[in-house]
Amino acid sequence: MKIVEELEGSGGLASIARMTEAIAALETRRTELIQELRSQRLASWEEIGQACGMTRQGASRRWSRQAHATSFGAAAAAYRRGRPPYPESAVDWLIPGTAKSVLDLGAGTGKLTQLLVARELAVTAVEPLAEMRSELVAAAPAADVRDGSAEAIPLENKAVDAVVVAQAWHWFDAAKALPEIARVLTPGGTLGLVWNVRDHSVAWVAELDRVLHRHTRQEIDTRPSIGTPFREVERLDVRWEHALTRDELLDLVASRSYVITMPGKDRDELMHQVSELLDSHLDLRGRKKLTMPYVTRCTRARLAS
Ligand SMILES: C[S@@+](CC[C@H](N)C(=O)[O-])C[C@H]1O[C@@H](n2cnc3c(N)ncnc32)[C@H](O)[C@@H]1O
Repeated sequence: MKIVEELEGSGGLASIARMTEAIAALETRRTELIQELRSQRLASWEEIGQACGMTRQGASRRWSRQAHATSFGAAAAAYRRGRPPYPESAVDWLIPGTAKSVLDLGAGTGKLTQLLVARELAVTAVEPLAEMRSELVAAAPAADVRDGSAEAIPLENKAVDAVVVAQAWHWFDAAKALPEIARVLTPGGTLGLVWNVRDHSVAWVAELDRVLHRHTRQEIDTRPSIGTPFREVERLDVRWEHALTRDELLDLVASRSYVITMPGKDRDELMHQVSELLDSHLDLRGRKKLTMPYVTRCTRARLAS
């Protein structure tokens, strides 16, 4: 191929470096094209697999996580309206009392960022999606909001005393994110991970989840292992309730990544089934305000000094 000859030039290490750069650029562009095709539903994983010389399962395994991770922009406003904040006691536990500066990584629309800013910490919030960032800037104007990702954090070395990741660790490439987080933390700094998990021991929540899982299931490891250079890994569960309206509950459902990425017909059907549940379940029907029970799962770990 002509392009290969051009990159190869006179050979040697310079050719290898040029080829490596070109492969990375092509890989990035291929991922973007796949995301475009999937978000507009112009190609199936079967067809994408064929075009990439791999099986349907191989293509879906490789790119669907990225497609989901980048889906939130399409539902940023619903995300802001429907998703819960985090209990103050969880934030107390995640951020050491001595910390002065904190990075909220994968900050989304600023659900956690707002709580950090209210504590008068110097807060940097990193978020890769422009639609989420515009909600974030409005929600937490005192934060230093930056475009970036967990795998390439736009901060100097040893810039912050604590890093927190709310509801986002499962989207990161942990092998790349962990050394990046260690780089931007001061020695002895902390990494905190947090997820709000709906409490299925309550009957109507279990019923809601049955409806959601009829369409798709998203398994998230909310007690992930965190390896070197971090240590002293500790866990905490906090039980609490979030009051929300019927419309906010529909927004909560609509802002799940697997709902955003569903074909329109399936999404409409799912939203209809959730509305029916709200209208018919004995614990829900006729209620203006609902109370969603959560178990907030927290993990914290310390960077070696
Ligand atoms: C479920 S939302 C959580 C947002 C926010 N932290 C919260 O608690 O509401 C996940 C966020 O992670 C972001 N994200 C996905 N992949 C990421 C990555 N590799 N690096 C940084 N953020 C990422 C998404 O854009 C999205 O805003």
